[in-house]
Amino acid sequence: MNSYRITTAFGEQSTAAEVIAGIDLTGKRAIVTGGASGIGVETVRALASANAEVTLAVRNVEAGERTAEDIVADTGNKQVLVAPLDLADPASVAAFTAAWDGPLHILVNNAGVMAAPLTRTAHGWELQFATNHLGHFALATGFHEALAAAGSARVVSVSSSAHRRSPVVFDDIHFRQRPYDPWLAYGQSKTANVLFAVEATRRWTADGIAVNALMPGGIRTGLQRYVSQDELDRMVARAGGLAGARWKTPEQGAATSVLLAASPLLDGISGRYFEDCNEAGPPVDARHGVAEYALDPDAAARLWQVSADTLASIDTPAS
Ligand SMILES: NC(=O)c1ccc[n+]([C@@H]2O[C@H](COP(=O)([O-])OP(=O)(O)OC[C@H]3O[C@@H](n4cnc5c(N)ncnc54)[C@H](OP(=O)(O)O)[C@@H]3O)[C@@H](O)[C@H]2O)c1
Repeated sequence: MNSYRITTAFGEQSTAAEVIAGIDLTGKRAIVTGGASGIGVETVRALASANAEVTLAVRNVEAGERTAEDIVADTGNKQVLVAPLDLADPASVAAFTAAWDGPLHILVNNAGVMAAPLTRTAHGWELQFATNHLGHFALATGFHEALAAAGSARVVSVSSSAHRRSPVVFDDIHFRQRPYDPWLAYGQSKTANVLFAVEATRRWTADGIAVNALMPGGIRTGLQRYVSQDELDRMVARAGGLAGARWKTPEQGAATSVLLAASPLLDGISGRYFEDCNEAGPPVDARHGVAEYALDPDAAARLWQVSADTLASIDTPAS
């Protein structure tokens, strides 16, 4: 495996359309979780424009259908499909993977929830960890065979610079002893998204499956629904003061996901963290760089085991 840092000609302002230009995904099948809103829509649009079959895996099927219709009209690609998926419900994830037939070439684990007030799933798990990490872990591992069957598959783990707010706190992942903090919970879940890429690389490279993580940038979407305008202003000032950061458009926000999902520039690359279409180095400011603990192979192996044990501890009927 290459150990140098991956750079491309794309950058902060590149769009998903620019990244996908010239790439032909005919015959490839892709799934984008949360494909009915925010950067998910633009990720689907770019993959569909390259002629992939794309399934939007969504909670709100009506919103998914509207998005799919818009993208079919826009791209002329009729293979834009919609299927229900609730990542916080392991039975829903199991049903989704059970309904899939054949190889899967691209899985974009994009859906997410940010800074929600303390909420527990039916199994008592903290909602952000359950949705952002455990649901995607169950989905990707449930698709392992389908990904391996593709011969050369990509899994994209949409993380965030917010991973720098917290490592995975193995002693109390679900905030049963420590006081709940919505940002620590979000940060922990986004660190888990990077660690997943690290351990999946160790386990799945021999199966031809590449798994990378990314920070899409700051984009105004439904993700900020739990954050007040005051807090948002403070966050932007904090990032902007340090790095001249600014909001990206959803088309720019989807660019790094699309690069990791489809670009030949990433052939043979796995287990890494990207931002602004390039591999990140050590932390430089609030929004740029990857924490060492997010790439730690021991933490990655431990998280995989904890995640598998957590899911195995419940009865998950594939309805
Ligand atoms: N926007 C940013 O500035 C930013 C920055 C860093 C990282 N990110 C990451 O980028 C990804 C996409 O975010 P976005 O900005 O595009 O936000 P968004 O528009 O809110 O999209 C998130 C999607 O996730 C879906 N979702 C939430 N809970 C789900 C569940 N239990 N099961 C299935 N789907 C669920 C939402 O569905 P509903 O519509 O049904 O709620 C929504 O479609 C997230 O992983 C986020 O952490 C975004």
